[in-house]
Amino acid sequence: MNEVFRRILFLPEQASTIAKDVDSLHYVIITTAMVVATLVLGLSAYFIIRFRRRSETDVTPKIQTTLGWEVLFVGVPLTTFLAWFFIGFHDFIRMQTPPPDAMDVYVVGKQWMWQFTYPEGPNAIGVLRVPVGRPVRLLLTSRDVIHSFYVPAFRIKQDALPGAYTQTWFEVTKPGSYRVMCAEFCGLKHSEMWAEVVALSPEDYEAWMQEQRRGPVSRRDATPSAPEREESQKPARQAVRYDAQEPHGEVMYGERGTLAARGERVAAERGCLKCHTVDGTAHIGPTWLDLYGRRERLASGETVVADEAYLTESMMNPREQVVAGFEPVMPAFLGVLEAAEVAALVEYIKTLRSARLETIRSEGP
Ligand code: CUA
Repeated sequence: MNEVFRRILFLPEQASTIAKDVDSLHYVIITTAMVVATLVLGLSAYFIIRFRRRSETDVTPKIQTTLGWEVLFVGVPLTTFLAWFFIGFHDFIRMQTPPPDAMDVYVVGKQWMWQFTYPEGPNAIGVLRVPVGRPVRLLLTSRDVIHSFYVPAFRIKQDALPGAYTQTWFEVTKPGSYRVMCAEFCGLKHSEMWAEVVALSPEDYEAWMQEQRRGPVSRRDATPSAPEREESQKPARQAVRYDAQEPHGEVMYGERGTLAARGERVAAERGCLKCHTVDGTAHIGPTWLDLYGRRERLASGETVVADEAYLTESMMNPREQVVAGFEPVMPAFLGVLEAAEVAALVEYIKTLRSARLETIRSEGP
């Protein structure tokens, strides 16, 4: 049934775990709306003809409704709207809540291309490689204006905002190549801001990641996996440099080592460690040890969980994010730190776990 509707409405293929549910809600709403529209238009036509004015003295009698009809008229729409709401709310919560075992990928939108950074180290432009059957959480930000990461086949769309992190997640259900579009008007080449998600089997993905761990490899040097061989039969696309104003094609670049290792270097270079310790002692700022996921009470009285969004916000706009008991002395790093550096710092902070906490985690609550 779902498939029949999809073909009638010319919707893109469904390649993620939530795609079917998103579409089902869409079909339910469209079907109800069509039934109601037919009923309203049909009855209107019938009444226009049936009760038309036949003579000068023809006066419509005063109509008295009964309570039964009124309950029906209010009850049916209310029930329908509530049903839409609950199905929509249920799906929305699911779409907003990445599973805890999801793998992370940092995504940066830039006029006019998408850049992907894996915590294991590699950077890519234009192509995001993911394993099939594993949830992937994307942490999105922008280097310039607002972009929106849109994968029609996955039915996900999420804004990427400069100086902040937003997140979305998906789980691909079948191997293949899926188009990413930018869904927020962002300048001259907005309509060309494309990328691709290439979903590989877990084995192919692991093999690819192993290859990348040995150091940045350009697409042409890499041993092609099965989908890549297939892809290479298609017309050749040009590889591009990051700074080239050309959004298509895949480029692998970046430094050796993991993102967290890079974060450790950034922390030293940018002077973060002059105020923040990594051993649990409080200094000018809160310690980074066990910071990730911690509940912090802010000077403003608000309580926050130190997740990626908070950590980023506290670097970009620290005056608003001061933890209770600390002086508001941290300078703002908005426009100073690059998105990749922020991602590296966040990954580094995530690795700073005390032995005690690790024990609790591995043994469960
Ligand atoms: Cu980026 Cu439109």
